[in-house]
Amino acid sequence: VIPEPIQSESAELVLAFLAEAGDDVVSGEAISDKLGLTRAAVWKHVEALRGQGYRIDAVATRGYRLVAVPDRLRALELRPLLNTHDVGQVLHCFESLGSTSDHAKALAEDGAGHGEVVVTEAQTMGRGRRGRGWVMAPGRNVAFSVVLRPVGLPTARAPELTLVASLAVCDALRRAGVDAGIKWPNDILVNGRKIAGILTELAAEPDQVHWVVVGVGVNVNAREEDFPPELLGQATSVFLERGQVAPRALFLAACLTLLEEWYDRHAEDGFGPIREAWTVRSVTLGREVAVQLDGREVVGTAEALDDTGALLVRTAAGLERITSGDVALLRPRG
Ligand code: BTN
Repeated sequence: VIPEPIQSESAELVLAFLAEAGDDVVSGEAISDKLGLTRAAVWKHVEALRGQGYRIDAVATRGYRLVAVPDRLRALELRPLLNTHDVGQVLHCFESLGSTSDHAKALAEDGAGHGEVVVTEAQTMGRGRRGRGWVMAPGRNVAFSVVLRPVGLPTARAPELTLVASLAVCDALRRAGVDAGIKWPNDILVNGRKIAGILTELAAEPDQVHWVVVGVGVNVNAREEDFPPELLGQATSVFLERGQVAPRALFLAACLTLLEEWYDRHAEDGFGPIREAWTVRSVTLGREVAVQLDGREVVGTAEALDDTGALLVRTAAGLERITSGDVALLRPRG
């Protein structure tokens, strides 16, 4: 007998219901009442979900409980976990892709809406900042890109969105149990090692942003052997920090939910609260830094984030305002 394909919409609703209940047991009756399904249909969907790798316990006479979610990043896993109005409501999920950001940019050019997300299990041509590459361990890490269409944001203020994204990723990592901090502008570090990177690209005219694509790569479950040798000692992952595999779907859902929360905060209240939150999470401020600018190096103390998102560095010659470049944290004095 060929198993029936899951009726994905109803199965998704059953899953969402179970996911929302968390550790609580949900009665079959509650599910069938709420979703307008027969008890037999609920049971069929539960069986289908089990066949897809979900662990759903049946608790004698009381109902069902969702115990474990398969480690895959597809709409079926992600949607029930998302608590957003825009971000991730349209999901484009792939097994393999050159670069999620390249794909998201093409979608944006084609009219993709605010909050559409591209996610992949493997990336063959991942791009990093300043022309570098980004290597990801297939099936172990998280790589996604989000199309944003900020309303009424002048192009000069678009870099603020990079800092918005860094807050979301930093907070999602903290929820996953690691002590993440932000290195200006948007590298996420744990114990001095890079755990996540963010690449922001946009299409704009001077007075109007058409779209922004925020691309995020996070080392979630990468092992030592997943990193290229030149990154050893410089990169880390949630797994390496905690010694425990993290559920990627939950992590990605947290990133997207937090991105929307911080994005909305920025849209409503401007850069002030973002700057404040960023300052608290910064591992750059107060440190001696060396900034590589095109062709020269600025060495001094990182003093503050100014009200445009630029980094202010106190040097022997005075205060330098850094708007782009690579920051190296120098050894703390003393
Ligand atoms: C950096 O730290 O240099 C930024 C790295 C950004 C990597 C992510 S992975 C998802 C998205 N797609 C890409 O090609 N790059 C970004």
